[in-house]
Amino acid sequence: MSKGVTVWFTGLPCSGKTTIADRLGEVLRGRGEKVERLDGDTVRKGLTSDLGFSKEDRAENIKRVTFVAKLLTRNEVKVLATFVSPYIDRRQKTREEIGEFMMVYVRTPVKECIRRDVKGMYAKALAGEIKGFTGIDDPYEEPVNPELVVDTDKETIEESVQKVLAEMEKRGYL
Ligand code: ADX
Repeated sequence: MSKGVTVWFTGLPCSGKTTIADRLGEVLRGRGEKVERLDGDTVRKGLTSDLGFSKEDRAENIKRVTFVAKLLTRNEVKVLATFVSPYIDRRQKTREEIGEFMMVYVRTPVKECIRRDVKGMYAKALAGEIKGFTGIDDPYEEPVNPELVVDTDKETIEESVQKVLAEMEKRGYL
């Protein structure tokens, strides 16, 4: 039977988490895998719409997502979770709670994220219109022990996706 796993993508806003995970999801579905996507922007519209971006609220956001990801993972689903998730301690708890877990650090330099600025939020943060924006005036704690690092400023989307697939295979999840 196919093994469940949560592949957790962490990185700055606009680092490329969603793009890579969406594409990976397509590839996995094409192979007949059960896939579920949990993404910061959509989860925050539904499950965690009562939360903001203080340290406490971000932790609560990730706590609820972890609960859901755990249920899915134990039912043989490949869970592709994409959250800024800036705090090491909260990510570590998520890893421990889910068990079958792989962390992918989407290591895009903040300069490149600002250049992409898909939703114009960096511009607002730099202008002081949004306070506490990750990478500008709020911390991002880099992972120390991720299973995989992808450098989206040096790799194509397909290359990053292939790296994740290879790592999933190596770890017995495919
Ligand atoms: S997390 O910190 O709780 O993991 P999450 O991934 O759910 O964040 O949401 C991040 C998204 O919320 C970003 O892509 C961005 O569009 C939006 N956002 C709004 N305010 C902020 C902020 N202050 N810091 C980071 N992202 C923000």
